[in-house]
Amino acid sequence: MLQSAHPLPSGPGAPGADPFDPNRPRTAAGRDRAIVLVGLMGVGKSTVGRRLASRLRLPFVDADQAIEEAAGMTVAEIFDRFGEPYFRDGERRVIARLMDGTPKVIATGGGAFINDETRALILAEATAIWLNAHPDVLAERVGRRDSRPLLRGRNPKQVLTELATVRNPIYAEAHIHITSNKSPHDTTVNAILKAIGFGRAAGSGRRGS
Ligand code: S3P
Repeated sequence: MLQSAHPLPSGPGAPGADPFDPNRPRTAAGRDRAIVLVGLMGVGKSTVGRRLASRLRLPFVDADQAIEEAAGMTVAEIFDRFGEPYFRDGERRVIARLMDGTPKVIATGGGAFINDETRALILAEATAIWLNAHPDVLAERVGRRDSRPLLRGRNPKQVLTELATVRNPIYAEAHIHITSNKSPHDTTVNAILKAIGFGRAAGSGRRGS
């Protein structure tokens, strides 16, 4: 399920880390930096993010919801009334505001990490986790009557396949890759916890090893 990606910003392989120190920080994710979930629509970023935050006892922020609060409109309304470029600009600004250096879990909208500026900021200041699933699985998850503007009136499987072709190489820049496919969301949460070094301890009142 877990594929190796870039080395984490810090961790067992970080220069100076003593691999024999049982108290060594395995990674800074969730301790002194935000965890940012990226990936296509329907992969479960919000559900997984909320559960991950609760296991880590961290605040959870849904970036699309933060954009809606800032705009006083739904994402669909922003697209309808002002167009996608306006939404993307708001998305970039809201995510920059959320990246305030405090540990938290952020679920981003599927297009956020595609913006060069947003991606550079996330990669520099947070731990980026790509939740990946096959477009067939995503199409099933988003359902037919989806309110997401990019899917409205279109064949979700076709759109998601096209988006995967363009975006997956960009999502692949994330520090950690987790493939979820049909696994239950809790399995994905456990895979993330393991990948960031919290293992089974999170949720049982302890953190780390
Ligand atoms: C989008 C994904 C949506 C939302 C908007 C655009 C995208 O968020 O931000 O409809 O470009 O992939 P989710 O990924 O949470 O559905």
